[in-house]
Amino acid sequence: MLRTPSSPSPLLQALGGHVTSPPPVWLMRQAGRYLPEYRSVRNRVPSFLDLCLNPALAAEVTLQPLRRFAFDAAIVFSDILIVPYALGQKVEFKEGEGPKLEAIRDADAVAKLDTEGAGARLAPVYETVERATAELPETVPLIGFCGAPWTVATYMVEGGGSKEHLAARFLAYHQPETFQRLIDILVEISAHYLAGQAKAGARVLQIFDSWAGVLSEDEFTRWCIAPTRQIVQRVKAEVPGTPIIGFPRGAGLLAERYARDTGIDAIGCDTAMPVGWMQRLQVHIPVQGNLDPVLLLAGGAAFDARVEAILGTLGAGPFIFNLGHGILPDTPVENVERLVSLVTTWQA
Ligand code: CP3
Repeated sequence: MLRTPSSPSPLLQALGGHVTSPPPVWLMRQAGRYLPEYRSVRNRVPSFLDLCLNPALAAEVTLQPLRRFAFDAAIVFSDILIVPYALGQKVEFKEGEGPKLEAIRDADAVAKLDTEGAGARLAPVYETVERATAELPETVPLIGFCGAPWTVATYMVEGGGSKEHLAARFLAYHQPETFQRLIDILVEISAHYLAGQAKAGARVLQIFDSWAGVLSEDEFTRWCIAPTRQIVQRVKAEVPGTPIIGFPRGAGLLAERYARDTGIDAIGCDTAMPVGWMQRLQVHIPVQGNLDPVLLLAGGAAFDARVEAILGTLGAGPFIFNLGHGILPDTPVENVERLVSLVTTWQA
């Protein structure tokens, strides 16, 4: 079994509820534009989607941060919007504008999604997982991931990114059956997709619910907790023993309920979550987070002090050091080096 104290991977140990000192560290979006070697690979393909669908290049980009930094995990290079693409929705990433999708606003558009053909379109990601895991040591597991149904639905319904996610929230209130159908489709494909990544070699999985924080209590239960619980149940039935990290960004007071009711193995906490609260959650479940990516960008004495404070508060329990959200493209590589050195030399 991987999840024993003797596991050679600090990340798997922490996910199994064991305390490792120092704690494992990896960063959300650790492969990306802040690395010059990423930008050089990215420039070899016309679009970001071409990179995600090219297993040789995507595996290369997955491994790049591991060559520079002593991270305790790799995360497969892909995107949460690969799932709408696999369902046959038109998805484009426009330089400087973010993702653009053909908006889904009614039952007909939901019915047109190609659930049959979706599995085959995800195959390149499984190949990326296979290629990347072949290069990684025992001590460094590969993390597979998907977006949570709610977060992916916000992009599918809106037709892109948005601040308030009005189109998705409106559809959920105005045509709940249609929205439920969309969520059900996403549960099905996401469970299949996560299990597929695990079968290809991913030893840990993460569900990104980046926009969980815009939902009110009942909607959070229905659109965030319930679909996540269904995915967790299906994945656990298909690939037992693969730990799942949930990241309900912005969940605030509802994080505790999310941790309890979804069946995830660890909870990712965003930057706004007080570390004292994370400590309370940690009694029940391993926690991951939550350095402000802007502080990593800024560096300096305040950055050092915060890293120490997070370690001091959470390092005595099962803990995974991470950011509270993805690394920013302008982050100096030296600051990431400094972060990894602070975490890996930390002593309780
Ligand atoms: O963590 C990693 O290193 C793995 C790769 C990864 C990417 N996206 C690569 C990416 C992961 C885990 C994601 C998740 C993702 N994608 C989320 C959830 C996490 C979060 O940040 O909230 C979301 C909401 C998306 C959707 C998405 N993808 C947006 C909104 C954008 C445009 C904004 C931006 O950062 O450019 C993307 C594009 C994207 N995904 C890039 C990368 C490296 C940049 C595209 C490029 O290199 O040209």
